[in-house]
Amino acid sequence: MAANMDLELLELADTVELSPLAEAALEGLTKRPRQMSPKWFYDERGSQLFEQITDLPEYYLTRTEIALYEDHALDMVDGIGAGAVVVEFGSGSSRKTPLLLDALDRPAVYAPIDISLSALREACDRLMDRYPRLSLMPLQADFTGGVELPHTLDSEAGPRLGFFPGSTLGNFHPAQAQIFLQRVLKLLGPGASLLIGVDTVKDVGTLLRAYDDAAGVTAAFNLNLLSRLNNELDADFDLLSFAHEARWNAELSRIEMHLVSTRRQEVQLCGERIPFLNGESIHTECSYKYAPAAAQALFERAGWVLERSWLAPEDAFAVYRLRAPA
Ligand code: AVJ
Repeated sequence: MAANMDLELLELADTVELSPLAEAALEGLTKRPRQMSPKWFYDERGSQLFEQITDLPEYYLTRTEIALYEDHALDMVDGIGAGAVVVEFGSGSSRKTPLLLDALDRPAVYAPIDISLSALREACDRLMDRYPRLSLMPLQADFTGGVELPHTLDSEAGPRLGFFPGSTLGNFHPAQAQIFLQRVLKLLGPGASLLIGVDTVKDVGTLLRAYDDAAGVTAAFNLNLLSRLNNELDADFDLLSFAHEARWNAELSRIEMHLVSTRRQEVQLCGERIPFLNGESIHTECSYKYAPAAAQALFERAGWVLERSWLAPEDAFAVYRLRAPA
């Protein structure tokens, strides 16, 4: 009887479901090289830190891209037509969206998709006040695994415009980026348009400074991942023994962010002991950079037609308008 009960308890313990974060942490941190997906950065504090990053003097991306919309939004939406259905992937604070909405002719629907519920809430609150006639259809979702649209969009007839700013595409490995763009093409349907902002390859110093700012905000953003593991999974990372590092991987054309263990140590996570050598890193993010020709090749591999592009001074950032074949 007693033996039977023990057996039953064991089975129950084995089938307790792990949270998605726990599964990802166990998967990524028990293997070598140790790694986590950047999507785990964006809890409430992480989303706030990212917003702070976008205002940093070193982080040229947001400022440069916004200037492109300020100067060219009318051109960018030329021919889209009235009553557009705008779908934004990884909308975050939706800070760039008004520049587009203001250029469009009476846009009908705005469907922001983001992994952070707090970011979606704040963005929709602001947009609701500013655009009382716009239907907001927010969707909390992680679009890295697959993409879906809010079902309320099924009955919307207006021209479809996808919006994917911020160089978020750079978080995907190129093969995944292609798959993602193929899915978006299918999802938005024949004749749809996509405006996409992508960071360019440039001098290494500028790139590295953008991901390792003097004020240490990017370091805090990166380390917040470990706070999250401590808070949500009861792990025991010592935040003082991991250092933020940004590296340029020239061969793969990407910035990498790492958290490097500054001593030999062991961390407890979900019942696993995870050893770290001195200098061993957790790879937390890839941010791929695309020269315009490489971006165009990627879009075309995914089945999109490149209609136009807008390059910032010194080719510091690019916005592309793509069209899904009819
Ligand atoms: C939101 C993925 C575009 O790669 O530049 C900023 C995230 N990471 N600083 C980027 C990020 C460190 C950002 N993206």
